[in-house]
Amino acid sequence: MKLHDLTGCIALVTGGAAGIGLATARLLGQHGARLAVMDIRPAELDDAVAALRAEGLDATGYAGDVTDEAAVETVVDRVQTELGLVTVLINNAGSGSHTLPEQVTMAEFRHMFELNLAGSFMMARAVARRLLAAGRGGTIVNVSSIGGSSALGRGNVSFSVAKAGVNQMTRELAVEWAGAGIRVNAVQPCQVDTPGFSQLANSPGGKELLARMIRGIPLGRLATSEDCAAAIHFLASDAASMITGVILPVDGGNLALNAGGTSR
Ligand SMILES: NC(=O)c1ccc[n+]([C@@H]2O[C@H](COP(=O)([O-])OP(=O)(O)OC[C@H]3O[C@@H](n4cnc5c(N)ncnc54)[C@H](O)[C@@H]3O)[C@@H](O)[C@H]2O)c1
Repeated sequence: MKLHDLTGCIALVTGGAAGIGLATARLLGQHGARLAVMDIRPAELDDAVAALRAEGLDATGYAGDVTDEAAVETVVDRVQTELGLVTVLINNAGSGSHTLPEQVTMAEFRHMFELNLAGSFMMARAVARRLLAAGRGGTIVNVSSIGGSSALGRGNVSFSVAKAGVNQMTRELAVEWAGAGIRVNAVQPCQVDTPGFSQLANSPGGKELLARMIRGIPLGRLATSEDCAAAIHFLASDAASMITGVILPVDGGNLALNAGGTSR
């Protein structure tokens, strides 16, 4: 139990108002972390923080956009002043886009990079600078996707390429900061049953797509936000103290399954 205990940690979770981010904040809080929950949607953030507090967790909300460099610095500064030095960062804010490569605009392509890759980098840099200055170690967990390692098709190119960047950023930062005791890892979920995903599942043709996705997942179901939170918590905790630079699939075996393979 002690290996998984986060008492005394300040955990900053981006995109924490919903889905995987909210489930992760809840689980880290249940293991003793003081929570700084950051999200771009202030009303949803207020609701999420109120829900976490009603469950007895120590949570504070910080409205901010991870793609805005000044906002990133302001939020990380405010968290340090109000709660203490951030030692756990969960880079979860992100979203997908579904436009075929021959139709995608550069604005959309660049936005996917800004949100999924540059936003996570700016958050990591802001947190690590302060840890390095304080001579303290910490842990960073990036939320990538199976799309970062394996092609999804269906107009996912901008998202997938950005998540591939998240995977390589994870390895680079892990190597750069290992000597300072800052571990950097990532999880790469398959399709997760979240509010973001249900929009896609409810779109025209969504039911057929969902059935096809599940056929590619040997464990036979979508992941849940809680599945992702459990893996993120593991990587952020001392249970993973010798683990850095890994991209951990939370995918029910999806990446293990060859296209010609069959799960029984
Ligand atoms: N849901 C899936 O199937 C799935 C699969 C693989 C990876 N992921 C990744 O998991 C992460 C979370 O996904 P989710 O499905 O829980 O999403 P979600 O849309 O349910 O929640 C994402 C949260 O991030 C916030 N956010 C969006 N842009 C932001 C910004 N610029 N700054 C701060 N906050 C911002 C949103 O307001 C929202 O509360 C994302 O990085 C996503 O790419 C999701």
